[in-house]
Amino acid sequence: MKKNFKRTLVTAALPYANGPVHIGHLAGCYLPADIYVRYLRSAGKDVRFICGSDEHGVPITIKAKKEGVTPQAVVDKYHSMMKSAFEGFGISFDIYSRTSSKTHHETASGFFKQMYEKGSFTEQVTEQYFDEQASQFLADRYIMGTCPKCSNPDAYGDQCERCGSSLSPTELINPRSTLSGAKPVLRQTKNWFLPLDKLQPKIKAYLDQHSDWKPNVYGQCKSWLESGDGLQPRAMTRDLDWGVPVPVKGGEGKVLYVWFDAPIGYISASKELLPENWEDYWKSDDSRLIHFIGKDNIVFHCIIFPAMLMEHGGFVLPDNVPANEFLNLEGEKISTSRNWAVWLHEYLFDFKDKQDSLRYALCANAPESKDNDFTWKEFQTRHNSELVAIFGNFVNRSLVLTHKFYSGIVPSANTYTKHDLLVLEELTAAPDKIAKALEEFKFREALTEWMNVARLGNKYLADSEPWKLIKQDEERVKTIMNISLQICCNLAILAEPFIPFTSAKLFGLLNLSPLRWVSAKQSNNLAQGHSIHKDELLFSKIEDAEIQVQLDKLSAVKAARQNTGVKPVKQETSFDDFSKMDIRVATILSAELVPKTDKLMKLQLDTGFDKRTVVSGIAQWYKPENIVGQKVCLLANLAPRKIKGIESQGMILMAENQDGELSFVLPSKENIQNGADVK
Ligand code: 2FM
Ligand code: ZN
Repeated sequence: MKKNFKRTLVTAALPYANGPVHIGHLAGCYLPADIYVRYLRSAGKDVRFICGSDEHGVPITIKAKKEGVTPQAVVDKYHSMMKSAFEGFGISFDIYSRTSSKTHHETASGFFKQMYEKGSFTEQVTEQYFDEQASQFLADRYIMGTCPKCSNPDAYGDQCERCGSSLSPTELINPRSTLSGAKPVLRQTKNWFLPLDKLQPKIKAYLDQHSDWKPNVYGQCKSWLESGDGLQPRAMTRDLDWGVPVPVKGGEGKVLYVWFDAPIGYISASKELLPENWEDYWKSDDSRLIHFIGKDNIVFHCIIFPAMLMEHGGFVLPDNVPANEFLNLEGEKISTSRNWAVWLHEYLFDFKDKQDSLRYALCANAPESKDNDFTWKEFQTRHNSELVAIFGNFVNRSLVLTHKFYSGIVPSANTYTKHDLLVLEELTAAPDKIAKALEEFKFREALTEWMNVARLGNKYLADSEPWKLIKQDEERVKTIMNISLQICCNLAILAEPFIPFTSAKLFGLLNLSPLRWVSAKQSNNLAQGHSIHKDELLFSKIEDAEIQVQLDKLSAVKAARQNTGVKPVKQETSFDDFSKMDIRVATILSAELVPKTDKLMKLQLDTGFDKRTVVSGIAQWYKPENIVGQKVCLLANLAPRKIKGIESQGMILMAENQDGELSFVLPSKENIQNGADVK
C-alpha cells in the first residue's frame, strides 16, 4: 500500500446492466466503497469515486434475447434503474457513467490500438465453439459446461462462479450452448490474445509487492499463479456483434472482450468527470488506485487489468483491491435468475426512509473475510436493538433533557470530574480508532468502534443520572448535559460514512452545518449558548409485521419454485436399499428408432463387462446419429423387461427439466471408463 500519495481514485465494479441491483451487490462492493470514500472526503483527502454500468458482454445480449428486445433497450432500462437505486442508498459516486458512451468507445478502442501497435497481443487462429443452430460463435456466457477445476456442472465459458477460476470455453467438460442447448462444434476463427503466460513474471513481481492485500484476495491471486501451468494466454477479442468494435485490420465483425473494455470504463468515466486533469489520477506516481469489487472479479482486477495497464504503459497500477466475499440470503445463495434476492429498488419502496438501517445492517454483517448470511430477523434486531436502542436512545435522551432543562440552549461545561475526563478522552480517541480500521478496510470493526461511542454516551447518562441530580446540583447537570451533547455531535460526524442520512438529520437537530472528521478529535464543537432544534426521534422501530411482509415475499418465491417443476423430495430411503442399485458408466455403440413409436430408441451399450440392449424413451430429445459414442449412466441390475417386443436390459439415467425434457446424466470427466461404478 502506497504511503506517500496525494490523491486517491476509488472505483466500484461496473455492474452489468442486465438486471436490478440487490443487497449482495450493496454489501459486497458499493457500500464499503462508499463508506471509504465518505471517510476520505470527511478527512479532507483528495478522492474521486468512479462507477458506471457495464453495458457490453454476453449477459446483456442473453437478457435481450430472453426479453425479446434489443440489447440497447436492456441497458437503457437497467442503467437508469441501477443509477437511481444507488442514489437512493446514498452511494456517492462522483460519476456514474456507462460503457456505451462515446468517450468509452473511443478510450477502449484507443487503448487496444496502442497495445496492438506495441505488439502486446499475439494473433492466433484457434478453434472456438460454434452453435450451428444459432449460427454463432459461443463466447463466455453463451457456453456452459463442467468446470475442469471443481466439477461445477454450470460453469460459464469465461469463469466458474463456484471456484472463481477464469476459464476458456475449450476447457469446459461437456460444453453446451446456452442459446440452443445444442452440443457445439469447433470452428476456426482469428482472435487477439494477451500472452499472460509470458507476462507471468511481471505479474508475479507486482503481486509480490502487495502481500499486504486482504488474505482472501492475495491468496486467490497466488493460487492462480502457482496452480497447474500458471497463467495462460487469454483472448481479448470475441466473435460477437455487441460491444466495442475491434479497431484493427482483420477485426471486422468482432468486438473487444467485455473484460478488456469494462475496466477501461474506469478510465473513460474519469475522463468524463475530469476532462482537464483525469491523468493526475491515472498517471502520477503519487496517485493511488483502489478497486472495490466482489470476489468473482478478483482475477480480472488483480491480474488481467494490471497486465493490460503494464503492457499499455503510462498508468499507475491498482494499489489495493479490497474484494469482499459473497452475501447469502436466509441461508441460500443470492440468485438473480432464481429471484432469490432483496432488490434495492423494492427495499426503497417498502422501507421509505430507512436506507441507513440497511446500510448499517449490511456493514455490521459485511462478508469481509468469509461468505455471510443476511436474515430479515437479524436486520430487525440490528435496527431495533442497536440503532434505535443504543444510538437513537442516547441522542433522544440528550436532546429531550436539553429542551426540558434549558429550553434547547447548550449549557456551559463547568468543572470536569475524573469520570468526565475519562469519557472525553475516550470520545476524542474514537476518530483515530475508526479511521485506522477504515484505512485497513475493516468496515465491521470501524462500525463497532462508532457504536461504542454511542454506548459510551448511554452509559455516561445512565451513570450520571442528570434527571435525578437536577434537583440537587444544577451546575453539575450543566456539565453532564454539555458533555452528552458534544458526544451527540461527534457521533454525527463519525456516523457520516456509515449512515449519512441519519448523520445529516442529527446535524439538523443540532442546528449545525456538517463538520469534518478532524472536529471529532475535540469535544467542544457545540458552543455554550448554541440553540438546538426541537427534539425529534432519529428512528422509528421496525415492527414484526414489516419483517413478516418480507419473509412472506421470500416464501412466495420458494412456493413459485415448487410450482414450476421442482418436485418434493421422496420419502427417506436406507443406504442399504440405495446400495442394491448397481449403476455403471457405459458407452452407446449404436442407436436406432423403435419402429411405430415416437419416443423409444433401441440402444446397444458397451458396459465394460458386456454388450447389451436397452430401450430408452429418449427419441424426442436426441437423434440416433448424435449419440453414438456418448457416455451414459446405466442402472445395470434392473430386472430385464420386454418393451415393444425388445428385451431391455437396464435403464439409462436421465435428468428431467421443468418442461419434461430429458437429458443424459453424465460423468463430468472424460477419463471414466466403461463399467465404472456410479455411487
Ligand atoms: O461482475 C460484473 O458485474 C462485471 N460487470 C464487473 C465489471 S468491473 C469492471 F471491470 F468494470
Ligand atoms: Zn470451478
